[in-house]
This record gives sequence, structure tokens and C-alpha cells, in this order.
Amino acid sequence: MGIFITFEGIDGCGKSTQVKLLDHALKEKKIETCVTMEPGGTEAGKIIRNILLGSEFSVDRYAQLFLFVADRAQHLEEVIRPALMSGKWVLCDRFVESTVAYQGYGLGLNKNFINLLHKEILGDTWPDLTFVLDCPVSVARLRLKTRRGETAELTSGKGDDPYETASLEFQERLRQGYLDLARKYPKRIALIDGSEDPKQVHLSIIKIIEKKKLWPSET
Ligand SMILES: Nc1ncnc2c1ncn2[C@@H]1O[C@H](COP(=O)(O)OP(=O)(O)OP(=O)(O)O)[C@@H](O)[C@H]1O
Ligand SMILES: [Mg+2]
Repeated sequence: MGIFITFEGIDGCGKSTQVKLLDHALKEKKIETCVTMEPGGTEAGKIIRNILLGSEFSVDRYAQLFLFVADRAQHLEEVIRPALMSGKWVLCDRFVESTVAYQGYGLGLNKNFINLLHKEILGDTWPDLTFVLDCPVSVARLRLKTRRGETAELTSGKGDDPYETASLEFQERLRQGYLDLARKYPKRIALIDGSEDPKQVHLSIIKIIEKKKLWPSET
């Protein structure tokens, strides 16, 4: 069986950046990886992603919950479990904690109910390790602004991600939600200071992977 690692945190905290850096580090160690993301890690998931994050629909919060969970169920069956079975390390950009943070802490849906749904669809496939990258909302916002500037041509004309453009107060609730989850599940969730520079954040991630003895340490 491979190792299942998920990356969590508010928009712009640096998840995708760290997924790339860890993927690179694993490849250097000749470890096979499967890099994936939610929502939209499968063909059906891409359609679900467009419904959730496109600008065409305003989706009710319960409908959001079920669509995110539907995307996850499909992703688990089609991508995550087969990759783990073949011995790959799965690096997933957002997973269960995103739903608990956004639809639970953010939109006020019942967190016990959200957990129950996940117990049912995940079964034994819980992540071995989850990184919550924490940084102040203002820092993450600034990064997103810079990122938008960098890719202005690519994104022009497209609607913004509705969660990204939500109020500062909403983003702060998400941040506190993630911190709460990291406190609740300290065995699985590692809280990382995401406000440092990307290389430093990467080193913190590697340190935890080594401490958990998930990969053979250098001798
Ligand atoms: N530690 C860091 N310090 C400074 N800038 C960073 C850091 N990590 C990432 N960035 C930059 O900040 C922007 C957002 O990073 P990234 O896309 O990795 O965040 P994300 O968490 O994946 O965001 P989203 O939730 O929107 O997908 C990018 O332009 C990236 O280059
Ligand atoms: Mg990202």
C-alpha cells in the first residue's frame, strides 16, 4: 500500500506549491506518486467542480456539501484507492477537512453529519497524514492578488472562485476551523506555519514525514 497525504488550508496558503515541492522530493527518492486534487480529480469530478466553482450557478449549502462529497466518493474509487493499491504515494490538494472547514465552520452545517458522511464514503481510506498550512488571512489574500497578477492573461474573463472572493470574516472562520481540526486530530493532522517562505515550509513538511518514519531516512 502507498501513503496517502492531504494538504489543507485557506485559499492562498500555499497548498499547491507544497504539493509540487513534495512531489519533486519524492521523485528524487524514486518514490512513485499520484498528484491529485479536489474538487475535480476525475472526469465526473470536473463537471461537479464547474457547478461548484464556476460562476453559472449559486449552489445551496447542502447541495454544496453533497456535491463535494459526491466528487470525493468518485475520486476515492477511481483515483485514490487504485493509486494506493499500486503502492504510489497519493498527494491530494484539499480533502475532507476542506468540507468540514467550508461547509461546517464556514457555512454552519452540522459537523457531526459531515463526519458521518465521510466515515461512510472513506471506510478505511483515511489519509496517513494531513498538512494544514496556516497563515494569516491577510497574507494569503496578498499572495492570491500576486498570483492573479502573474496569470492575468490566463484568467481574464473568467469568474472568480466564489469562496476566494468571500468576506475576510468568512476566511477567518475557515482559518479558525482548520486550527480547531488540527487540535482535535493531532495524530493525523500536522499544523505547519505556512507564512514562512516556500522552501522553509517544505522543510517543515519533510521533517514531519521523517519523524513519522513514512519514508526511509538517509543513512
Ligand atoms: N510560502 C510562501 N511564501 C510566499 N508566497 C507563496 C508561498 N507559497 C505559495 N506562495 C505563492 O502564493 C500564491 C498562492 O499559492 P498556492 O497557489 O500554492 O496556494 P493554494 O493554497 O494552492 O491556493 P488555492 O487555495 O487558491 O488553490 C502563489 O502565487 C504562490 O507562488
Ligand atoms: Mg491551489
